[in-house]
Amino acid sequence: MTAQKKKIVVLISGGGTNLQALIDTCKNSDCNNITGKNQQINGEIIAVISNKADVYGLERAKQSGIAHHVLSHKDYHSRDEYDQALIKLIDQFDSDLIVLAGFMRILTAEFVQQYRGKLLNIHPSLLPKYQGLNTHQRAIDAKDSEHGVSVHFVTEELDGGPVILQAKVPVFDNDNAEQLASRVHQQEHRIYPLVVKWFCENRLIMQNDHAVLDNMELSASGYANDD
Ligand code: GAR
Repeated sequence: MTAQKKKIVVLISGGGTNLQALIDTCKNSDCNNITGKNQQINGEIIAVISNKADVYGLERAKQSGIAHHVLSHKDYHSRDEYDQALIKLIDQFDSDLIVLAGFMRILTAEFVQQYRGKLLNIHPSLLPKYQGLNTHQRAIDAKDSEHGVSVHFVTEELDGGPVILQAKVPVFDNDNAEQLASRVHQQEHRIYPLVVKWFCENRLIMQNDHAVLDNMELSASGYANDD
């Protein structure tokens, strides 16, 4: 018997290409991405929440018939008040997993504690390198030969939670930030659905602030990465 589908809420602030990759993998039984042919995520995106109106990610949700909401941070006086309102909204959905997909907000400790172990983020760098913003330009400025993306559980430390999976891309001599971002994005769309799929199959948990996959504690740089 198939396990019950996990209920997923996705938080966005922008174009939502990662959201789209997740929508495609949840919906499409012929999906042929890194998760393998005919390997769907055993989950359903039940709501998309954006802190910004007029972002294309909301249109993507609409086109896929997914409930979508704008909760603007501009309507709240403080980060605490905003996060409390966000918790109230999210909790209407009785979700199993909260996926941050380009949600460009620093979260309060209260928010993180509310969803500990069921809160995933994607960050465009090989963490712990380049926490925060402008990661692509910083990799170029540092003359790094490789750059990439990390999916991690969210803890109270900004971009500091345990890494689950990373993907690397080369940095070429004459790359600009846009070209590098686009190369990283392609990898984002492969690894985020895979991690969400693991979570939805009950294979991935956070235990004592470590990511654990199939009962094995992952290394500091995530699955299949010996660095
Ligand atoms: C992605 O590159 C994601 O890694 C990044 O925002 C972009 C969202 O793109 N997230 C962060 O920087 C979080 N710190 P998308 O809206 O097309 O999915």
